[in-house]
Amino acid sequence: MAEKILILGGTSEAHALAEKLVAEGHYVTLSLAGRTEKPATSAATIHIGGFGGAQGLSAFLRKGRFTRLVDATHPYAYRISENADQAAELTTIPLQRLDRPPWRKRLGDNWTEFDTHEHARDALPAGATVFLALGSTHIAAFAQRADVRFLIRMVDPPGEKVVLPRFHQIITGKPQVTPEGESDLFARSGVTHLVCRNSGGDAGYAKIEAARRINLPVFMINRRRSGKPAR
Ligand SMILES: NC(=O)c1ccc[n+]([C@@H]2O[C@H](COP(=O)([O-])OP(=O)(O)OC[C@H]3O[C@@H](n4cnc5c(N)ncnc54)[C@H](OP(=O)(O)O)[C@@H]3O)[C@@H](O)[C@H]2O)c1
Repeated sequence: MAEKILILGGTSEAHALAEKLVAEGHYVTLSLAGRTEKPATSAATIHIGGFGGAQGLSAFLRKGRFTRLVDATHPYAYRISENADQAAELTTIPLQRLDRPPWRKRLGDNWTEFDTHEHARDALPAGATVFLALGSTHIAAFAQRADVRFLIRMVDPPGEKVVLPRFHQIITGKPQVTPEGESDLFARSGVTHLVCRNSGGDAGYAKIEAARRINLPVFMINRRRSGKPAR
Protein backbone atom coordinates (compact mmCIF):
# COMPACT_ATOMS: atom_id res chain seq x y z
CA MET A 1 0.00 0.00 0.00
CA ALA A 2 1.27 3.46 -0.86
CA GLU A 3 2.58 5.37 2.14
CA LYS A 4 3.13 9.07 2.73
CA ILE A 5 6.75 9.39 3.76
CA LEU A 6 8.81 12.32 5.02
CA ILE A 7 12.56 11.85 4.51
CA LEU A 8 14.86 14.15 6.44
CA GLY A 9 17.72 14.48 3.96
CA GLY A 10 20.81 16.43 3.04
CA THR A 11 22.79 13.33 2.09
CA SER A 12 23.24 11.30 -1.11
CA GLU A 13 21.64 8.32 0.66
CA ALA A 14 18.49 10.36 1.33
CA HIS A 15 18.27 11.35 -2.34
CA ALA A 16 18.73 7.75 -3.49
CA LEU A 17 16.10 6.51 -1.03
CA ALA A 18 13.63 9.18 -2.16
CA GLU A 19 14.02 8.10 -5.80
CA LYS A 20 13.54 4.45 -4.85
CA LEU A 21 10.42 5.06 -2.73
CA VAL A 22 8.84 7.29 -5.41
CA ALA A 23 9.52 4.56 -8.00
CA GLU A 24 7.76 2.10 -5.69
CA GLY A 25 4.67 4.30 -5.75
CA HIS A 26 4.92 6.06 -2.38
CA TYR A 27 4.19 9.76 -1.81
CA VAL A 28 7.52 11.14 -0.72
CA THR A 29 8.60 14.50 0.61
CA LEU A 30 12.35 15.05 0.87
CA SER A 31 13.26 17.69 3.40
CA LEU A 32 16.46 19.75 3.17
CA ALA A 33 17.81 22.27 5.64
CA GLY A 34 18.46 24.76 2.82
CA ARG A 35 22.23 25.00 3.31
CA THR A 36 23.17 24.39 -0.35
CA GLU A 37 22.26 26.86 -3.08
CA LYS A 38 21.47 24.33 -5.80
CA PRO A 39 20.39 21.00 -4.32
CA ALA A 40 20.17 18.00 -6.66
CA THR A 41 16.78 17.56 -8.31
CA SER A 42 14.50 14.81 -7.06
CA ALA A 43 11.38 12.95 -8.11
CA ALA A 44 10.08 13.59 -4.58
CA THR A 45 8.38 16.76 -3.39
CA ILE A 46 11.09 18.98 -1.94
CA HIS A 47 10.64 20.84 1.34
CA ILE A 48 13.32 23.40 2.15
CA GLY A 49 14.03 24.85 5.58
CA GLY A 50 13.59 23.95 9.23
CA PHE A 51 10.29 23.04 10.87
CA GLY A 52 10.76 24.91 14.14
CA GLY A 53 12.06 22.18 16.43
CA ALA A 54 10.40 18.91 17.43
CA GLN A 55 7.03 20.58 17.93
CA GLY A 56 7.13 22.13 14.46
CA LEU A 57 8.15 18.82 12.91
CA SER A 58 5.31 17.05 14.74
CA ALA A 59 2.81 19.60 13.45
CA PHE A 60 4.16 19.20 9.89
CA LEU A 61 3.83 15.40 10.11
CA ARG A 62 0.29 15.57 11.46
CA LYS A 63 -0.90 18.23 9.03
CA GLY A 64 0.58 16.35 6.07
CA ARG A 65 -0.89 13.03 7.31
CA PHE A 66 2.47 11.32 6.94
CA THR A 67 2.59 7.61 7.77
CA ARG A 68 6.37 7.26 8.06
CA LEU A 69 9.35 9.42 8.98
CA VAL A 70 12.84 8.54 7.76
CA ASP A 71 15.92 10.19 9.25
CA ALA A 72 18.56 10.01 6.53
CA THR A 73 20.52 13.05 7.69
CA HIS A 74 24.29 13.31 7.97
CA PRO A 75 25.85 11.42 10.90
CA TYR A 76 27.05 14.74 12.41
CA ALA A 77 23.63 16.45 12.13
CA TYR A 78 22.59 15.78 15.73
CA ARG A 79 19.88 18.32 16.40
CA ILE A 80 17.54 17.32 13.58
CA SER A 81 17.83 13.66 14.65
CA GLU A 82 16.95 14.55 18.23
CA ASN A 83 13.96 16.45 16.86
CA ALA A 84 12.98 13.40 14.79
CA ASP A 85 13.12 11.17 17.89
CA GLN A 86 10.90 13.54 19.84
CA ALA A 87 8.47 14.07 16.95
CA ALA A 88 8.10 10.31 16.48
CA GLU A 89 7.21 9.99 20.15
CA LEU A 90 4.79 12.90 20.08
CA THR A 91 2.98 11.75 16.94
CA THR A 92 3.51 7.94 17.25
CA ILE A 93 4.50 7.97 13.56
CA PRO A 94 7.09 5.22 12.93
CA LEU A 95 10.64 6.52 12.56
CA GLN A 96 13.31 4.72 10.58
CA ARG A 97 16.97 5.81 10.73
CA LEU A 98 19.54 5.23 7.99
CA ASP A 99 22.84 4.34 9.56
CA ARG A 100 26.07 5.33 7.83
CA PRO A 101 28.92 3.45 9.52
CA PRO A 102 32.13 5.41 10.19
CA TRP A 103 35.30 4.72 8.21
CA ARG A 104 37.67 2.29 9.91
CA LYS A 105 41.36 3.07 10.14
CA ARG A 106 43.40 0.93 7.71
CA LEU A 107 47.06 -0.01 7.49
CA GLY A 108 48.97 3.10 6.36
CA ASP A 109 46.42 5.60 7.69
CA ASN A 110 48.07 8.33 9.76
CA TRP A 111 45.12 9.48 11.88
CA THR A 112 45.03 11.38 15.13
CA GLU A 113 41.53 11.31 16.56
CA PHE A 114 39.83 14.17 18.44
CA ASP A 115 36.49 14.55 20.15
CA THR A 116 36.02 18.21 19.24
CA HIS A 117 37.00 20.69 16.53
CA GLU A 118 38.68 22.80 19.21
CA HIS A 119 40.95 19.96 20.31
CA ALA A 120 41.99 19.37 16.69
CA ARG A 121 42.62 23.10 16.20
CA ASP A 122 44.83 23.34 19.27
CA ALA A 123 46.95 20.38 18.18
CA LEU A 124 47.86 21.84 14.76
CA PRO A 125 51.53 22.84 14.61
CA ALA A 126 52.41 26.48 13.87
CA GLY A 127 53.32 27.02 10.22
CA ALA A 128 51.17 24.12 8.99
CA THR A 129 49.15 24.27 5.76
CA VAL A 130 45.86 22.68 6.65
CA PHE A 131 43.10 21.39 4.41
CA LEU A 132 39.77 21.85 6.19
CA ALA A 133 37.09 19.51 4.86
CA LEU A 134 34.32 20.71 7.18
CA GLY A 135 30.92 22.33 6.91
CA SER A 136 30.84 26.14 7.00
CA THR A 137 29.43 26.18 10.54
CA HIS A 138 32.67 24.70 11.93
CA ILE A 139 35.23 26.94 10.25
CA ALA A 140 34.99 29.63 12.95
CA ALA A 141 36.52 27.24 15.48
CA PHE A 142 39.82 27.53 13.54
CA ALA A 143 39.78 31.31 13.10
CA GLN A 144 42.02 32.00 16.09
CA ARG A 145 44.95 30.14 14.49
CA ALA A 146 46.61 33.05 12.69
CA ASP A 147 49.86 31.04 12.62
CA VAL A 148 48.41 28.41 10.28
CA ARG A 149 47.41 28.62 6.60
CA PHE A 150 44.05 27.05 5.73
CA LEU A 151 42.60 25.72 2.51
CA ILE A 152 38.87 25.48 3.02
CA ARG A 153 36.67 23.43 0.73
CA MET A 154 32.98 24.35 0.63
CA VAL A 155 30.17 23.42 -1.74
CA ASP A 156 29.03 27.07 -1.95
CA PRO A 157 31.00 30.26 -1.25
CA PRO A 158 30.84 31.21 2.45
CA GLY A 159 28.15 33.67 3.47
CA GLU A 160 29.09 36.95 5.14
CA LYS A 161 28.45 35.49 8.58
CA VAL A 162 31.15 32.82 8.33
CA VAL A 163 34.15 33.78 10.48
CA LEU A 164 37.25 32.82 8.52
CA PRO A 165 40.86 32.36 9.66
CA ARG A 166 43.33 35.14 8.80
CA PHE A 167 45.31 33.13 6.24
CA HIS A 168 42.89 31.14 4.15
CA GLN A 169 41.99 30.18 0.62
CA ILE A 170 38.50 28.97 -0.30
CA ILE A 171 38.04 26.14 -2.76
CA THR A 172 34.40 25.95 -3.81
CA GLY A 173 32.82 22.78 -5.11
CA LYS A 174 32.42 19.17 -4.22
CA PRO A 175 35.30 16.83 -3.32
CA GLN A 176 37.34 15.24 -6.11
CA VAL A 177 35.95 11.86 -7.03
CA THR A 178 39.28 10.02 -7.19
CA PRO A 179 42.13 9.69 -4.66
CA GLU A 180 44.48 10.87 -7.43
CA GLY A 181 42.47 14.07 -7.80
CA GLU A 182 42.61 14.69 -4.05
CA SER A 183 46.32 13.88 -3.68
CA ASP A 184 47.19 16.15 -6.64
CA LEU A 185 45.26 18.95 -4.96
CA PHE A 186 47.00 18.37 -1.61
CA ALA A 187 50.45 18.23 -3.23
CA ARG A 188 49.86 21.29 -5.46
CA SER A 189 48.78 23.33 -2.46
CA GLY A 190 51.55 22.18 -0.12
CA VAL A 191 49.06 20.70 2.35
CA THR A 192 50.70 19.29 5.50
CA HIS A 193 47.55 18.23 7.43
CA LEU A 194 43.98 17.23 6.64
CA VAL A 195 41.22 18.02 9.15
CA CYS A 196 37.94 16.22 8.57
CA ARG A 197 35.11 14.28 10.19
CA ASN A 198 34.50 10.58 10.14
CA SER A 199 31.46 10.89 7.91
CA GLY A 200 31.61 7.38 6.43
CA GLY A 201 30.18 6.53 3.00
CA ASP A 202 31.78 6.68 -0.43
CA ALA A 203 31.37 10.34 -1.35
CA GLY A 204 34.14 11.75 0.86
CA TYR A 205 36.42 8.74 1.02
CA ALA A 206 38.78 9.77 -1.82
CA LYS A 207 40.50 12.28 0.48
CA ILE A 208 41.12 9.58 3.11
CA GLU A 209 42.61 7.25 0.50
CA ALA A 210 44.70 10.10 -0.92
CA ALA A 211 46.04 10.96 2.54
CA ARG A 212 47.02 7.31 3.08
CA ARG A 213 48.88 7.18 -0.24
CA ILE A 214 50.98 10.28 0.49
CA ASN A 215 51.24 9.68 4.27
CA LEU A 216 49.45 12.93 5.06
CA PRO A 217 48.54 13.33 8.74
CA VAL A 218 44.76 13.31 9.21
CA PHE A 219 43.19 15.04 12.21
CA MET A 220 39.94 13.10 12.47
CA ILE A 221 37.08 14.60 14.46
CA ASN A 222 35.13 11.70 15.86
CA ARG A 223 31.39 11.36 16.11
CA ARG A 224 29.81 12.00 19.49
CA ARG A 225 30.37 8.97 21.68
CA SER A 226 26.63 8.58 22.17
CA GLY A 227 26.02 8.95 18.40
CA LYS A 228 22.52 8.87 17.00
CA PRO A 229 20.27 6.35 18.68
CA ALA A 230 19.65 3.22 16.59
CA ARG A 231 16.12 2.74 15.26
N1 LIG B 1 26.66 18.31 9.75
C1 LIG B 1 27.32 17.98 8.65
O1 LIG B 1 28.55 17.81 8.65
C2 LIG B 1 26.57 17.77 7.35
C3 LIG B 1 27.26 17.35 6.22
C4 LIG B 1 26.57 17.14 5.03
C5 LIG B 1 25.21 17.36 4.99
N2 LIG B 1 24.56 17.78 6.09
C6 LIG B 1 23.11 18.00 6.01
O2 LIG B 1 22.90 19.38 6.23
C7 LIG B 1 21.73 19.59 7.01
C8 LIG B 1 22.06 20.48 8.18
O3 LIG B 1 23.07 19.89 8.98
P1 LIG B 1 23.35 20.43 10.45
O4 LIG B 1 24.51 19.71 10.98
O5 LIG B 1 23.31 21.93 10.45
O6 LIG B 1 22.01 19.91 11.18
P2 LIG B 1 21.52 20.04 12.70
O7 LIG B 1 22.48 20.82 13.50
O8 LIG B 1 21.16 18.69 13.17
O9 LIG B 1 20.16 20.85 12.51
C9 LIG B 1 20.02 22.22 12.78
C10 LIG B 1 18.63 22.65 12.36
O10 LIG B 1 18.52 22.69 10.94
C11 LIG B 1 17.24 22.23 10.51
N3 LIG B 1 17.45 21.03 9.69
C12 LIG B 1 18.52 20.18 9.71
N4 LIG B 1 18.36 19.23 8.80
C13 LIG B 1 17.17 19.44 8.20
C14 LIG B 1 16.47 18.79 7.17
N5 LIG B 1 16.96 17.71 6.54
N6 LIG B 1 15.26 19.30 6.82
C15 LIG B 1 14.76 20.39 7.43
N7 LIG B 1 15.38 21.06 8.40
C16 LIG B 1 16.57 20.60 8.78
C17 LIG B 1 16.45 21.96 11.77
O11 LIG B 1 15.75 23.17 12.08
P3 LIG B 1 14.36 23.16 12.85
O12 LIG B 1 14.68 22.81 14.27
O13 LIG B 1 13.85 24.56 12.67
O14 LIG B 1 13.48 22.13 12.21
C18 LIG B 1 17.53 21.68 12.80
O15 LIG B 1 17.14 21.91 14.13
C19 LIG B 1 21.21 18.21 7.42
O16 LIG B 1 20.07 17.95 6.66
C20 LIG B 1 22.34 17.26 7.10
O17 LIG B 1 21.85 16.00 6.65
C21 LIG B 1 25.20 18.00 7.27
